[in-house]
Amino acid sequence: MKRILVKETVKEVGKEVKISGWVHTRRDHGKIVFLDLRDMSGILQVVFVPGSKAYEKVSEVRPEWVISITGLVKARPEKMVNDKMVTGTVEMEAVDLEVLNPAKTPPFETDKTTLGIDEELRLKYRYLDLRTDRMNKNITLRHNIVRFMREYLWKEDFREIETPYLTKSTPEGAREFVVPSRLYPGEFYVLPQSPQQFKQLLMVAGMERYFQIARCFRDEDQRGDRQPEFTQLDVEMSFIDQEDILEKMEKLAIELINNITPENTIDSTPFPRMTYKEAMEKYNTDKPDLRKDKNDKSEMAFLWIIDAPLFKYSKTDKKLVSSHHPFTMPQPEDLHLLDSKPKDVRAYAYDLVLNGFEIAGGSIRIHDRKIQDKIFDLLGVSPEEKQRRFGHMLEAFEFGAPPHGGIAWGIDRLIAVLAHEDAIREVMAFPKTGDAKDLMMGAPSQVSEQQLKDVHISLRKEAEGKELKGADTIIGD
Ligand code: AMO
Repeated sequence: MKRILVKETVKEVGKEVKISGWVHTRRDHGKIVFLDLRDMSGILQVVFVPGSKAYEKVSEVRPEWVISITGLVKARPEKMVNDKMVTGTVEMEAVDLEVLNPAKTPPFETDKTTLGIDEELRLKYRYLDLRTDRMNKNITLRHNIVRFMREYLWKEDFREIETPYLTKSTPEGAREFVVPSRLYPGEFYVLPQSPQQFKQLLMVAGMERYFQIARCFRDEDQRGDRQPEFTQLDVEMSFIDQEDILEKMEKLAIELINNITPENTIDSTPFPRMTYKEAMEKYNTDKPDLRKDKNDKSEMAFLWIIDAPLFKYSKTDKKLVSSHHPFTMPQPEDLHLLDSKPKDVRAYAYDLVLNGFEIAGGSIRIHDRKIQDKIFDLLGVSPEEKQRRFGHMLEAFEFGAPPHGGIAWGIDRLIAVLAHEDAIREVMAFPKTGDAKDLMMGAPSQVSEQQLKDVHISLRKEAEGKELKGADTIIGD
């Protein structure tokens, strides 16, 4: 008999069907045994009564064993209907049972939330943690959100384009992960902090409307809302202005919430806007939480922060650095301040804040080589470094670069807020710990001497007190 999902049993009342999955719970009521069988679609209650073949076999079965059951689907009496279960209108009476794989007792119970369990244990056994209802719901929600974003943008004529992971440094302000090259001794690829330069070059290529669900890599200190690898919904468009982008993205956010998480309510539409200056003066932060009730996790208070300064002074050496990234367009009426009062120059840059979290950020880009040159000069990038790091961008601007701009959503952060979770780890299938370890795989780990030799690396004790020299930073810390 062909196996069906438990959610499909509601259409099979009166028929004998086969289901397969994990034993969620087992309850013995006198002679009768109840098993809840779990598969990807939900849970079904199965009753074992004396006299059946299934009954003889069920005595050895324990939670988390993998089994198949054939049985008769029966409608539940009206007062036994359970609205909380996808299979709440039916139950199965077992006829036969096959054990596909027994299981050891898991290190924590998976039939309830694991929020109170030691997180290191949860992450070491993430494949068990993901069996819990809460985690299953979060990962399913993530799937539904990403699917909605894709379908929404496809309908709007956006093209989904992949950009490389083995690439060259792109300045987004964090330390980078480097990958040694085997073919070119002493040279390295860098994992992208974002697809920023590629998406701009796709605009030069004439793609006009691009998006990507892109993995980004940043070697920075971890927090509840930060991971060393995370996912962006990355968007770029040509022949648009700031207003077009804000409008399109706002519509996406509203439709997403109305369709996928209708239990959440948006505070006000259109989303309020506030200049960076106003936010800092009024709230002393560029991501204020504007919810009326700060304890209400289903209240969604969006806020656009606009007119951010193009530059700021770095905390460490008081050097002029980009607030967003160096490809951001200065507002034309402030261009005359570039030399005299660079800190007063406002950018066409915008962040979307949700309940106090920055969930998206973007800008209109420079598409004029002269302005881009000028920005690098102001950032103190030497002509050689400019050529070495950004020569390809500057050259591309001379081959007919259209006016363009874009935005990137932090998908993990957005989902965490929509799922009412405090940490983005709760909405990622395989996150790293706070100290950037993958406890399940055991990463990072040592590699063999041969592997090191292949990539021309010999290990040495970290030179005492010496900073390894990398590319000069041109972004704020
Ligand atoms: P930015 O650096 O602001 O912009 O990143 C965009 C969004 O990505 C999310 N984010 C993170 N999420 C989890 N862990 C992290 N370590 C992390 N860092 C950032 C945030 C943030 O708003 N290329 C530009 C976008 C553009 O200009 O179009 C960029 O990456 O939610």
